[in-house]
Amino acid sequence: MRSTWDPQRYLAFADERGRPFVDLVARIDSTDPRVVVDLGCGPGNLTSLLAGRWPAAAVTGVDSSADMVRVASDSAAAARVVFHKADLRDWVRDVEPGSVDVLVSNATLQWVPEHLALLPALAAAVSPGGWLAFQVPGNHVAPSHTLLAELAAEPPYAAHTAGVERVGAHDATTYLRALQGLGGEVDAWETTYLHVLQGEDPVFTWISGTGARPTLQALPEDLRPGFESEYKARLRAAYPDDGHGVAFPFRRIFVVARMPG
Ligand SMILES: C[S@@+](CC[C@H](N)C(=O)[O-])C[C@H]1O[C@@H](n2cnc3c(N)ncnc32)[C@H](O)[C@@H]1O
Repeated sequence: MRSTWDPQRYLAFADERGRPFVDLVARIDSTDPRVVVDLGCGPGNLTSLLAGRWPAAAVTGVDSSADMVRVASDSAAAARVVFHKADLRDWVRDVEPGSVDVLVSNATLQWVPEHLALLPALAAAVSPGGWLAFQVPGNHVAPSHTLLAELAAEPPYAAHTAGVERVGAHDATTYLRALQGLGGEVDAWETTYLHVLQGEDPVFTWISGTGARPTLQALPEDLRPGFESEYKARLRAAYPDDGHGVAFPFRRIFVVARMPG
C-alpha cells in the first residue's frame, strides 16, 4: 500500500530536518565534482545546498513523489537543480555506472526495505574516487514509533493498518561493513539530536509528516479522528511539555564512503 507525501507538512520542521543533511554533507571531502545527485530529494530545499556548495556541478534531485517533485520544481532551487520523478530503485538500475561524483540520500533509504542489498548498485553509480553519503533515522524503537505501532495493532484499526509501508534501517556498523566490503573508505557514525519542539502536539505534527503517514492514510475517514486523538494523548504522555517545549530525542545514522579510485 503506497502512501503520499504532503510537502508543506513535511517542511513544518525544515530547520530540524535540515541539520542532519548539513552534518552529513560536511563530511564529503569533494572539491570539484561534475555530477551530483540527491536521491529522495523531497521538496528540494536541501538539494539547493548542494548546488550552493558545488556551483560548477550539474546537480539533480530525484524523488518518487509527484507532489514533492512539483514543489521542488516550482521552488527557487530549480534555478540550479534539475528535479525529476523516479523511484530510486529504477534510477539506480538505469544510471550509467561510475557517472556520479557525489551521490547523496538524506532520510530516504529507510523507505526502501531492501536498501542494504541496493548498496552495491548505488556504489557502482559513483565515479572512481567519488562519494556515496546517506543518512537514515535510527529511531524506530522510540516511543513516537512504538506507540504508533501499538495503537495501529489494536481493534478497530488493525483491520486497516496491517499492510502499511514500514520504515526500516540498520545500525552504523552494518553499513560500514557493507561499504568497506565494496572497497570504500567509510566514515559511519550516529547522533541523537535533542530537538525542542513548540506548539500543540508537536511530536504528532512531526511524525504525521513522515513516519505516521502510511498508517494515517490507511485508516478510513470515520476512524482517523479517534485514532489521531488517542495517538496524540499517548505522545503527550511520552513527550511531556514542561513549559519550555517538548524534548524530542531523534537518533540518526550517517554513512559517508569514498569509493576506490
Ligand atoms: C523524509 S523525506 C526526505 C526528503 C529530503 N531528502 C530531506 O532530507 O528533507 C523522504 C523522501 O524520500 C522519497 N522517497 C521515498 N521512497 C522513495 C523511492 N523509492 N525512490 C525515490 N524517492 C523516495 C519521498 O517521496 C520523500 O520525498
